[in-house]
Amino acid sequence: APELCPALTGVFQEMATAECHFINGTEKVRFLDRYIYNRVELARFDSDVGHYVGFTPYGERLARSAISKPERLEYARTAVDWLCRHNYPIVAPFTAER
Ligand SMILES: *[C@@H]1O[C@H](CO)[C@@H](O)[C@H](O)[C@H]1NC(C)=O
Repeated sequence: APELCPALTGVFQEMATAECHFINGTEKVRFLDRYIYNRVELARFDSDVGHYVGFTPYGERLARSAISKPERLEYARTAVDWLCRHNYPIVAPFTAER
């Protein structure tokens, strides 16, 4: 399903990004699943928070919808491992640590 694609997805001006932030190698990793429309961030999953949060009325609907799907939450909550840490050896040479 497109919504599960970890790569950058562009549909018209609406986009979703899956971001891995490596704070200290794979020791401390933050995953962000962000939904952006016309440069406005509508909603995001932040692994530091542990769930989806909406920033606009529509974003709140997106967040509630994501939260209501167990498989969606599972995807996001485990992404630090299966997506971020798994890909670290590939992306590490191109990563600016912060
Ligand atoms: C970074 O991770 C290493 C282990 O990989 C640990 O020994 C070190 O204390 C960590 N540094 C910081 C600043 O957390």
